[in-house]
Amino acid sequence: MLLSLAARRRVLFLGGKGGVGKTTVASAVALRAAREGRRALVVSTDPAHNLGHLWDQRVGDRITPLGDGAEGRLSGIEIDPDATTDRHLQDVTETLKRLMPEHLTGEVERHMELSRRSPGTHEAAVLERMTELVETGLRDHDLVVFDTAPSGHTARLMALPEVMTAWTDGLLHRRERSERLGAAMRGLDAGSTAPRDPLEERDQEIRSILLRRRDRLAALREVLVDAERTSFAIVLAAERLPVLETIALHEELERTGVDVGALVVNRRSPADRGEFLARRRAVEDEHLATLRRALPAVPCQEVPLGEEDVVGPAALERFAELL
Ligand SMILES: Nc1ncnc2c1ncn2[C@@H]1O[C@H](COP(=O)(O)OP(=O)(O)OP(=O)(O)O)[C@@H](O)[C@H]1O
Ligand SMILES: [Mg+2]
Repeated sequence: MLLSLAARRRVLFLGGKGGVGKTTVASAVALRAAREGRRALVVSTDPAHNLGHLWDQRVGDRITPLGDGAEGRLSGIEIDPDATTDRHLQDVTETLKRLMPEHLTGEVERHMELSRRSPGTHEAAVLERMTELVETGLRDHDLVVFDTAPSGHTARLMALPEVMTAWTDGLLHRRERSERLGAAMRGLDAGSTAPRDPLEERDQEIRSILLRRRDRLAALREVLVDAERTSFAIVLAAERLPVLETIALHEELERTGVDVGALVVNRRSPADRGEFLARRRAVEDEHLATLRRALPAVPCQEVPLGEEDVVGPAALERFAELL
């Protein structure tokens, strides 16, 4: 079921609590897509990456073939949040230095050093990287699978393009008003675009940076909320808290406009391997009944608990058979 969902989409997000099997499912889906002839990319956005562990190889912050690379069709990348934040802040610092008077250079640097540790900076950097990877991913690959960080963080990240677009729009609007006012005071035509003085030139540059950013975020949001291209699958264990969190995550994603295309209930206990596991399965059944009552319209897929961990390409290939 998950494989057929992935076959009809260009971008697939895997989300859910820690340790439920997001990376395993993301890798298995991408591997299968690549074996079937699609170019697939797995992007890990979780700072505590385990893509490399699962494939038993080094991955890192560069697009790298996974396993045998499926004839060049399967690759992965682990976004490095620190390097991403550094690069992001460096870009912003350079722009600010160019736009601010020279005697404020020291001030700009101090401010950016503080920004490194301020809330939101890390998320903004990861979002920027995600935007890039959706852009290049859709250009160079047929399927981009995002293996995301545990729930709360991801739902916030998915809502961020909308929030930041609105914020940038507000900023642009205010700038436009003050520009019009400034022009009127100087007795100039407010519609004229020819730069008149360095200050005006600087204003135009700030405007165009903000506009560029708004356009990129709007493009990302367009992809995120396009149910024809993009879907979100929530991976969970059939336990009480994961079920409740899944219902909450589903609600949050729907509110953001993201389509939840599948629930993957991983590690289902077998009914025929002794009394202990049979009882466990009966408890799981109750939790799943709660899940089905709350989200009757979302397709639900169950994956049995395996005897061993899933490590390396051969095990992933077998795991994909279950999806
Ligand atoms: N159905 C299964 N049967 C047995 N083991 C499984 C199954 N699914 C996943 N595992 C194992 O469970 C462990 C956690 O899986 P995985 O790393 O995919 O979870 P995750 O959600 O990505 O975790 P994290 O949130 O820490 O990134 C791995 O060792 C994996 O091999
Ligand atoms: Mg993981």
